[in-house]
Amino acid sequence: MLQSGVPTPPESPPHDVLLQAAIEASQAAGSLLLRYAATGFQIEYKNPINLVTDADRAAEQCVIDRLKARFPDHHFLAEERGRDEEGSSPYRWIIDPLDGTTNFAHGYPAYCVSIGLEYEGRCIMGVVFDPSRNELFTAMEHRGACVNGRPIHVSNTQALDGSLLVTGFAYDIRETKRNNLDHFVKFALKAQGLRRTGSAALDLCYVAAGRFDGFWEVRLSPWDMAAGSVIAREAGGRLTDFSGKDLSIYGQELVASNGRIHEAMLTLLNQAPHQT
Ligand code: IPD
Ligand code: CA
Ligand code: CA
Repeated sequence: MLQSGVPTPPESPPHDVLLQAAIEASQAAGSLLLRYAATGFQIEYKNPINLVTDADRAAEQCVIDRLKARFPDHHFLAEERGRDEEGSSPYRWIIDPLDGTTNFAHGYPAYCVSIGLEYEGRCIMGVVFDPSRNELFTAMEHRGACVNGRPIHVSNTQALDGSLLVTGFAYDIRETKRNNLDHFVKFALKAQGLRRTGSAALDLCYVAAGRFDGFWEVRLSPWDMAAGSVIAREAGGRLTDFSGKDLSIYGQELVASNGRIHEAMLTLLNQAPHQT
């Protein structure tokens, strides 16, 4: 506080401090998820195929408690508890405490904690921790992306024919015609291989690491994309919506690729529905 009584604006924390805080929070929440996986958890249903567990809620509380303790004036957007936007901070943490809940609930070890950070509406940092494989993906704007501290880069695959692609399906797949099945059929006939892992945040990290060449999905939420989009972009990837415009994490459509196969993916996504 100044002597005049005018409050001083909070200082911007150094990027390394922000990154370290997110890493620690993701690892604490990841350990919590492994404990729940080992000892048991309660399942509730948001709809017949959309689950949430007490592990999701505990991991979210763990991440928010840790980040709030260090950055009390920052904003938060978290999957299970929504927005917390008091004050006028330029920072907003975007958290998916358990991306891959269906996998988690079935004991299939493909899930993660995802923590992204926006500054003035721009995603500048991403941390994704996969506790089952002990893989920590990190990226900061203009500083590249890493897994467990080692730099990662997208693949060099040149064509769909030689590509391993990944996608996912939203929880309203039974209710909507825009259910991604048509795109799935088309890519299955064009790509070398096609996967559905059940964790969008990890799918983005795997594009970043060159394990997948491309990823598309419809009706994703900001917490599915915030962290992974920074990681994929910093690893040299291209991220757009289906029309080729720069990705907005609030826009639901996502195409992420190594860049080389991007136009081919967009062309296929914009074709008329598949005729059988
Ligand atoms: C889901 C996963 C999945 C994707 C769904 C997401 P959740 O998130 O990321 O891969 O296909 O659209 O909702 O519910 O496990 O956090
Ligand atoms: Ca998610
Ligand atoms: Ca989730």
